[in-house]
Amino acid sequence: MHIEREPEGVRAASRAWRRSGECVGFVPTMGALHAGHLALVDRARAEGATRVIVSIFVNPTQFGPHEDLAAYPRDLEGDSDKLRAIGVDLVFFPSVAAIYPDGAETFVTLDRLPEHLCGLSRPGHFRGVATVVTVLFNLVEPDIAVFGEKDFQQLRVIQKLVRDLHLPVRIVGAPTHREADGLARSSRNAYLSASERQSALCLSAALRQAQARVTDGDRDAATLIAEMITLCTDAGGRVDYVAVVDEDSLDAIACIDRPVRAILAVFIGRARLIDNARLVPRGGPETLDTPGTRP
Ligand code: PAF
Repeated sequence: MHIEREPEGVRAASRAWRRSGECVGFVPTMGALHAGHLALVDRARAEGATRVIVSIFVNPTQFGPHEDLAAYPRDLEGDSDKLRAIGVDLVFFPSVAAIYPDGAETFVTLDRLPEHLCGLSRPGHFRGVATVVTVLFNLVEPDIAVFGEKDFQQLRVIQKLVRDLHLPVRIVGAPTHREADGLARSSRNAYLSASERQSALCLSAALRQAQARVTDGDRDAATLIAEMITLCTDAGGRVDYVAVVDEDSLDAIACIDRPVRAILAVFIGRARLIDNARLVPRGGPETLDTPGTRP
């Protein structure tokens, strides 16, 4: 497995593979890799990728001034071992200067999608995500790119920017990967103490409760949201937001009369955790991912 630091190097490797008829899959990450990331690699292959490139880049432009950029877990050696073990072809590990040339002043912004949910709590976050993902797509030139559904708003932002800018890449969303007790896998789970990890189960518990209510016939989003907030607060969480939204526009929904997305962000200690699930009114399939599911 080759570790490439230079933009021209990753582009040359990807172009050579594509010229010889291979299908290049891409999994962008910020490192601190866990089983959820590895499942994204599996998914790229299941979608037809014959070569897989993983980028590891802790992107400074998507962190706010008081967020965890400096503390974000970094472990290139451990990450490389995991990626080598599952046969990843190339790891792109650029420096900040390689991604953002000196004096860079061009950013990719979306008008509407960031004006919801995490975008409201983290101003500038999706501008940073949209910009770095566009740069990475320009360098890697993948046929397929895979993103986890845990970052549901991010997935929608990327799908939209690819559509709006006519980028020649197919975006695949992969189900949230969970630990056996339901906790969604996240690099930020590393911040949790043992007791905080227990509290963190409130996110998936709140989503399961909401799904059960909807299956029972409840339709009122405000009631569900209030119950989810109570569950998280009682568990010791500090709720950033809980919302029930349209799956495409991310606009708030009042009456759950079709499949919608319940989505929440909760601080557990210093970790800001997010999770989401599809809520399907009675008669629809159960969709909160089962623990440990690999897509
Ligand atoms: O989801 C992430 O890890 C990051 O937001 C991404 C997509 C790699 C962009 O930095």
